[in-house]
Amino acid sequence: MSDKITLNIEGKTVDCPVITGTEGDKAIDIGKLRAATGYITMDPGFGNTGSCKSAITYLDGDKGILRYRGIPIEHLAEKSSFTETAYLLIYGKLPDRKEMDAFSSSFNEHSMIHEDMKNFFDAYPSSAHPMAILSAMVCSMSAYYPDMIKENPTKEDIDRIAVQLLSKVRTICAFSYKKSIGEPFVYPRHDLMYVPNFLNMMFASPTRPYKLVEEAVQALKVLLILHADHEQNCSTSTVRLVGSSHANLYASISAGICALWGPLHGGANQAVIEMLEEIHADGGDVQKYVAKAKDKTSGFRLMGFGHRVYKNFDPRAKIIKQKADELLNKLGIHDPLLDIAKRLEEAALKDEYFIARKLYPNVDFYSGIILKAIGIPLKMFPVMFAIGRMPGWIAHWKEMIEDPTTKIGRPFQIYIGSPSRDYVPIEQRG
Ligand code: SDX
Repeated sequence: MSDKITLNIEGKTVDCPVITGTEGDKAIDIGKLRAATGYITMDPGFGNTGSCKSAITYLDGDKGILRYRGIPIEHLAEKSSFTETAYLLIYGKLPDRKEMDAFSSSFNEHSMIHEDMKNFFDAYPSSAHPMAILSAMVCSMSAYYPDMIKENPTKEDIDRIAVQLLSKVRTICAFSYKKSIGEPFVYPRHDLMYVPNFLNMMFASPTRPYKLVEEAVQALKVLLILHADHEQNCSTSTVRLVGSSHANLYASISAGICALWGPLHGGANQAVIEMLEEIHADGGDVQKYVAKAKDKTSGFRLMGFGHRVYKNFDPRAKIIKQKADELLNKLGIHDPLLDIAKRLEEAALKDEYFIARKLYPNVDFYSGIILKAIGIPLKMFPVMFAIGRMPGWIAHWKEMIEDPTTKIGRPFQIYIGSPSRDYVPIEQRG
């Protein structure tokens, strides 16, 4: 394979270098195309377009491979913790004991939100979606920590904002839940690790201590690790694009939270359970819903199915399905939605429409079963995805801002509007 391709367009030629990644992934660098030929490329949805070089996550959609900084997610899900995985993603290596202790203890230092920020919750109706609250609160952190929003943050600044966001996101999410059910806030505790601390803030109360169930803690830990990063997905690309204007990390992450909210992206875990509940209420006829998903006029999609990259299986879905089974067995829960999900998967994977389009269960198809079993309310499901993805967003923003070749993101377009025409005074308009 040559190290470049040469394009010849209307007599103008341009040499486009070929870039080869660690795993042999290849790209054609068209950086000179427009200047040399006047042409741009067109790729709605960016299904054929790379936006950057990155050393954070590698995934192979055909082989179902997902690695964080080269380490397979199967190893991390089994052996690591969420905070250790966050350190790996952000700093590019597993921490030694001293680094891990310092990183963990800094979570305690930054677990509280500014007391004045509690007033925000009073301004929202109890029915407010927690993703609306989360994106607003994260962006508003820039008002409470103004020294952190320099155009050129130092390494120490970024380290501090990173831990602030990782630690405070739990508190903000738990407080939004408490507000929605009219219970008093439960503050973070310094004697609890990341996941137990979050669960305690969610489910303890002054009159009702929360008994941590180890199986639930482990299942949520695995879920957060599996959501921690996924290269240039919609929300991470949003964080990078917003950050490319030198917007601060709080603002960039807030934008990422909004992108994740969409039901085609991180909002799918909530939409999957809503879909399974609809099927259950309708008698559990999965074939009926497989047929609906194939009928373009129905406007119905099998939520939790399909993926832009995975065209074989989503390795995360395999692990989550197994963890869902294990957790429900250990908790003695029989959730009819899990049976429906399994029957739906089986029916779809035998159907030519899904086979031809390589549509398989994705990370969101079974994750809601675990969240439901733990007692997380449905509207909080996308928020759990945001807590999990926080390390990935931070890692990509840091990689982007530290890359001297980063330029502000500003795509072009092909104009299809009206040709030139004169202004017509309103009296003369038809
Ligand atoms: C996440 O990018 C990431 O990495 C995302 C993520 C991450 O970790 O960040 O993995 C997390 O967002 C997972 C995806 C969650 N979303 C859903 O589960 C929503 C349902 N799935 C889709 O809407 C869809 O599959 C997408 C959005 C996930 C992918 O969309 P694409 O790649 O743009 O594919 P497409 O919409 O062009 O579909 C190709 C064909 C179409 O049919 P044809 O026009 O060829 O006849 O497949 C069909 C689609 O209609 N199709 C589906 C379907 N998904 C695609 N048909 C029925 N049900 C579905 N779920």
